Amino acid sequence: MILVTGATGQLGRRIVDQLVARRGGTAGLAVSVRDPARAADLAERGISVRPGDFDQPAGLAAAFAGAEKIVLVSTDGPREARIAQHRNAIAAARQAGVGHIVYTSFIDVAADSPAEFAAVHRTTEADLAASGLKFTVLRNPLYADLLPMTVGAALATGVFQLPAGTGRASFVSRAELAEAAAAAVLAPALAKTVYELTGQATHDYSEVAAAIAKVTGKPVRYAAVSAADYTDALAGGGLPAWLAGALSTMYAAVAAGKFDRVSNDFAALVGHPPRPLACLVQELFGRN
Ligand SMILES: NC(=O)c1ccc[n+]([C@@H]2O[C@H](COP(=O)([O-])OP(=O)(O)OC[C@H]3O[C@@H](n4cnc5c(N)ncnc54)[C@H](OP(=O)(O)O)[C@@H]3O)[C@@H](O)[C@H]2O)c1
Repeated sequence: MILVTGATGQLGRRIVDQLVARRGGTAGLAVSVRDPARAADLAERGISVRPGDFDQPAGLAAAFAGAEKIVLVSTDGPREARIAQHRNAIAAARQAGVGHIVYTSFIDVAADSPAEFAAVHRTTEADLAASGLKFTVLRNPLYADLLPMTVGAALATGVFQLPAGTGRASFVSRAELAEAAAAAVLAPALAKTVYELTGQATHDYSEVAAAIAKVTGKPVRYAAVSAADYTDALAGGGLPAWLAGALSTMYAAVAAGKFDRVSNDFAALVGHPPRPLACLVQELFGRN
């Protein structure tokens, strides 16, 4: 049996859909979710829905019982809480006798990265290595899906600001990353332990702005700001302090070159490369 955690989340849901499509049905599929009522449609389709909250380790091994493979979708929240949640999930998988964990990590796990997210994923990857379980790490790049939220205001004002300097990053859609995760779980054998699911090219945010301007016909420009100014702007806009800080340090890591990585690992799993930025921007901004 294959079990997907976080299946009421945006990536987890897409991974489930991909698994159903690739296997031609829901037999042998299970999910663990915090609120089973939100997964009622999955249960109706014949998927085993188990309650599982990584903050409540007592019930977690039961949630994972019988799973040969688990897709562990990383959680969201302040640094120490996430590390503890992932640790609880790994311990429960061990207790339940899970054979293989596929973990959705992040492209930046550098020890010298300024990013809070890097520290979370680096720690969880180390916990997996120390668990004694078989595991595969899928290092996701930036979700392309988040570009409208990140730069959308620029369609009205003409400019978006980030503390990313002239740093470069690649962007892949959640749907495609879900495809890669499903392919990894279903592969009879995997050649590597760590897959970097980058796009085929990296771009700085001026190039992102130019791609959006081309598709929308609106003048859009990127302006670099300091991490401190960005944190203040996000916090002023009502974002929780931890998230404002975490996003700021993430863009600082982009500025420091930590996201400037390109690999063919996506194609190695899926059989073809992910879509280029121009395609993604057309899909995301084409109707603006
Ligand atoms: N690569 C990127 O650009 C990027 C961007 C944002 C996030 N991420 C990471 O990728 C993950 C998946 O992304 P997404 O877009 O699918 O995010 P999402 O829609 O917020 O999904 C996060 C999932 O984590 C689950 N979760 C949170 N706390 C949990 C806990 N204590 N126990 C068990 N499950 C818990 C949530 O459960 P509920 O459904 O019950 O809320 C949800 O299903 C995020 O959680 C984050 O770690 C990556």
